[in-house]
Amino acid sequence: MTTTNNDLAVRLATEADAGPLIGVLADAFHDGPLADWLVPDPDDRRTVYHRYFTDAFHHGLEHGQVHTTGDQTAVAIWHPRLEPIPADTRDRLEALERIAGAYAPKFVLLEEVFDVFHPEEPHHYLAYLAVDPQRQNRGIGAALLADHHRWLDQHGLPAYLEASNMRNRRLYLRHGYTAGQTIVLPTEGPIIWRMWRGAPTANGRTPFPPTRPRRRSG
Ligand SMILES: CC(C)(COP(=O)(O)OP(=O)(O)OC[C@H]1O[C@@H](n2cnc3c(N)ncnc32)[C@H](O)[C@@H]1OP(=O)(O)O)[C@@H](O)C(=O)NCCC(=O)NCCS
Repeated sequence: MTTTNNDLAVRLATEADAGPLIGVLADAFHDGPLADWLVPDPDDRRTVYHRYFTDAFHHGLEHGQVHTTGDQTAVAIWHPRLEPIPADTRDRLEALERIAGAYAPKFVLLEEVFDVFHPEEPHHYLAYLAVDPQRQNRGIGAALLADHHRWLDQHGLPAYLEASNMRNRRLYLRHGYTAGQTIVLPTEGPIIWRMWRGAPTANGRTPFPPTRPRRRSG
């Protein structure tokens, strides 16, 4: 398949992109140590991931920014975190039980651990970056990242994300992120690398903020 510049032009996604982009998210995240840990059965994973990313996509449209490419083969979901957000535990717990059924406890644990170690300094949070598995390794993920990084640099804002394996960690290191303290998920879970891309300064980028686990209530 030939790729044109229009195919790779980054734009904001809308509700009309839901079908293809939820498919890209569910397919791209289907394999890997985090997926194996969350939903070990691959058939159940397909069902649960479709529901999970349907929720994540709509949450992104409503509360954040969802970016895609002209050909809808990639998606990035960013959430501006310009001030700390309160933990909304009871509603989220119920939503995760609806989405993941018997697998909900691990999703709850994952989100709670991510939340506890989330930096409170103002930044944009890259919740998900996914490229259609048939189109990976052609620079599409890098193009989506670079597009928003340009905007963040112009506005003097850092970025934060959790990398779920060594390979995507490498991609982020190449794009100006540094790795902070890791998270090791319990019950034989995988390692997660917390990554920070500081705001530009005259002397490089602002450093990874010190790890201060957030208190949760509710
Ligand atoms: C990670 C991902 C978004 C990168 O997009 P891409 O268009 O494939 O990447 P690019 O061509 O711009 O850059 C290539 C780099 O991406 C990373 N990458 C590529 N395929 C990957 C995959 N299946 N899993 C993890 N990282 C991958 C690697 O760092 C690769 O460089 P390398 O060949 O030196 O290892 C995409 O591969 C993907 O959707 N992977 C599965 C989901 C995922 O891991 N998302 C990130 C969550 S933190």
